[in-house]
Amino acid sequence: MDKSIEALLIKHTYEPGKKIGAGTQGAIYELVNHPNKVLKLTSDENEAFASQIVSRYNLKNVVKIYKVYFLKSTDLYIVIMEKLNKISKKDEDNWYFFFEIMNKLSYIPNKETEKVTETTQIAKFKNSEEWAIFALETLKKYSKKTSAGKRSFETIYTIVTEHLLDSKLLNDVFEGLKEIGQLGINYMDFHEQNIMIDSSGNFKIIDLGYSISPLAKINILEKRNNE
Ligand SMILES: Nc1ncnc2c1ncn2[C@@H]1O[C@H](COP(=O)(O)OP(=O)(O)O)[C@@H](O)[C@H]1O
Ligand SMILES: [Mg+2]
Repeated sequence: MDKSIEALLIKHTYEPGKKIGAGTQGAIYELVNHPNKVLKLTSDENEAFASQIVSRYNLKNVVKIYKVYFLKSTDLYIVIMEKLNKISKKDEDNWYFFFEIMNKLSYIPNKETEKVTETTQIAKFKNSEEWAIFALETLKKYSKKTSAGKRSFETIYTIVTEHLLDSKLLNDVFEGLKEIGQLGINYMDFHEQNIMIDSSGNFKIIDLGYSISPLAKINILEKRNNE
């Protein structure tokens, strides 16, 4: 870890421990003095802006973010958040099918697919079931136009309707995406690895990487005006 990052963390009494996750844009560390929190180092400016917005609220189905540090000396951002647990293998497998639907839909950009794939739009659905059914129907309509995936539409349809439709998992993820969308943030990394569970059994969305937020938009405008 960069020396200036370590110094800043120590100043704020955070001592990084074991590395517990790594992705394309950052890494997750445990915190020695805070067993219920983790630290994410990220180079993604959009993630830092979106995290800063989320940190102002207590959202039910989105990871609690306590603090975001912007480090001028490096291109990295530090996000301090609540520590969550991995979801079960079964939940992950079932969820993967729904992700597959959303993923396919996101490659067909139009007003109809936007409704289910953009977080700023999904608040228009009453509940998760309505959302999922609309997603399934939209996929059915466009499935001939999408490239053939590993599974047939029938397989996906069966798994989603039998295992997900009235599940807490689907409901919690829907509520989480809605909460993010209501803050004007468009969530951009929707997949089964970005859903975790807290100690009370609530599913929560993690990873605001790439997410487009109002703060990020303001930042782009300011940069343009200063050019
Ligand atoms: N709040 C958290 N509590 C516990 N583990 C986490 C937390 N956030 C992320 N992780 C772990 O680190 C991995 C990568 O984190 P994530 O934020 O998704 O980063 P990336 O942008 O690299 O995908 C996750 O898949 C998860 O295993
Ligand atoms: Mg991730």
